[in-house]
Amino acid sequence: MKAIVLAGGTGSRLYPLTQISSKQLQAVFDKPMIYYPLTVLIASGVSELCIISTPADLPRYRQLLGDGSQWGVVIQYREQARPEGIAQAFLIAADFVGSDDVILMLGDNIFSGGDDFPRAVSGFQGGATIFAYHVKDPERYGVVEFDKSGRAISIEEKPTIPKSSYAVPGVYIYDHSVVDIAKAVKPSARGELEITAVNLEYLRRGTLQVRRLSRGFAWLDAGTSTALHEASSYIEAIERRQGVKIGCPEEAALTRGFLTIKQFEKLITRMPQCEYSEYLSNVSDEWHRLNEGQE
Ligand code: G1P
Repeated sequence: MKAIVLAGGTGSRLYPLTQISSKQLQAVFDKPMIYYPLTVLIASGVSELCIISTPADLPRYRQLLGDGSQWGVVIQYREQARPEGIAQAFLIAADFVGSDDVILMLGDNIFSGGDDFPRAVSGFQGGATIFAYHVKDPERYGVVEFDKSGRAISIEEKPTIPKSSYAVPGVYIYDHSVVDIAKAVKPSARGELEITAVNLEYLRRGTLQVRRLSRGFAWLDAGTSTALHEASSYIEAIERRQGVKIGCPEEAALTRGFLTIKQFEKLITRMPQCEYSEYLSNVSDEWHRLNEGQE
């Protein structure tokens, strides 16, 4: 499976922060926002990634993430000249997707807890898998309606009167037919190629699976200054309490076997002395304790 991270948009709701830096590069507590979705993808075992962003911001992503080899993955980049909808990602990255399955993540979606995504990736058997999460303000999102047996029967993009409290988070798993489906999507009233239109086509074909994310699972928004601050506070509280980091791609790469312990330790030596590198050193100590005699 391949992965696309969509990190476009103007981030106007985060003005003036976004005047000089892309929204998905803003700090969420101790790391750039895009580290969070990237970590989910690496933890799910995906090692071929494509980042889509604006022509102005793409160089900054390249500077931050390079070719991915530092984490044992391959990262490609594509430009989204104009923000014309999430489904446009499949037109821009059609050659990258080729005939593979693909998981699309929005670069500003932050998740914490559970192994729902790795399980959905490893158990994916074609069609589409999307997720549903109970929220207080479903009208801001794609909203999925279930019948009595728990089967998804409708999805509406930002409905005025939502048919349920279940919003669709920015994680979508598709088989390769998504590229052709996206090509056939017409712009919506707001002028975008809606991802909801893609999901509706899979629903029509009877191949859409909607998995509900559990209560303890956190899906955080970081789209406004207040929400960004709250997301940072949440991550800080969990990290401080547990002594483990959320959204740490290096750790996920080690756990997933994309990096050997030697490569992981070499990576730490290239970092400045800081809390982040100290944390990674602790991860390495713990690895040695758990894997004694296996080096
Ligand atoms: C987009 C999608 C929506 C989805 C949301 C998740 O909304 O259109 O269906 O629920 O992402 O973050 P937008 O970011 O365009 O408001």
